[in-house]
Amino acid sequence: MKITILNGSPRKQNTAAMVEAFAEGAKAAGHEVETIQVGKLKINGCLACEYCHGKGEGKCVQKDDMEKVMPAYMDCDMIVFASPIYYFDMTAQLSAAIQRVYAIGKPPKATKAALLLSSASPNPFEGAIATYKNMLAFMGIEDKGVFTAAGDENGSEAKLTEIREFAKAL
Ligand SMILES: Cc1cc2nc3c(=O)[nH]c(=O)nc-3n(C[C@H](O)[C@H](O)[C@H](O)COP(=O)(O)O)c2cc1C
Repeated sequence: MKITILNGSPRKQNTAAMVEAFAEGAKAAGHEVETIQVGKLKINGCLACEYCHGKGEGKCVQKDDMEKVMPAYMDCDMIVFASPIYYFDMTAQLSAAIQRVYAIGKPPKATKAALLLSSASPNPFEGAIATYKNMLAFMGIEDKGVFTAAGDENGSEAKLTEIREFAKAL
């Protein structure tokens, strides 16, 4: 299957290590994986102008980096959301990339999803996990797994192996 990973981190450290472990496992299982570092992209919030639901016919009126994300949303069978925790939530860039799906309603082919979260402190994940699970329920997408790495768990071989093996079994 085609898997799109959206990494909300603007840098390539802790979340990127989880993403790489996932991608390694998924590729080893024969899946096609595309990773987009949305944390480095310029994606505005939704303007609620409704252009996409009228004249735009599914296209957003805003011309920004969401144009790089939308084709991957349209095409994937599975979406992996990955993010560092910023103030008890996903990053603003990833939140924007999620909310701009409004233009198309839901990713048309995606039936599965997973969540990878990284933090400094022990347990700030509740908000991001709730957003992810509510969104999946709304879109009719099945959660295949949520993985968190806090503090010293970041980059640990145990955590990365767990993620790699999970992806290998998809
Ligand atoms: C703006 C900002 C806000 C953060 N907020 C939290 C937080 O609320 N709780 C927490 O445990 N860590 C917080 N962190 C730490 C990051 O979640 C943590 O360092 C994470 O591993 C970074 O992942 P990355 O290397 O992929 O960017 C914050 C970091 C930044 C830059």
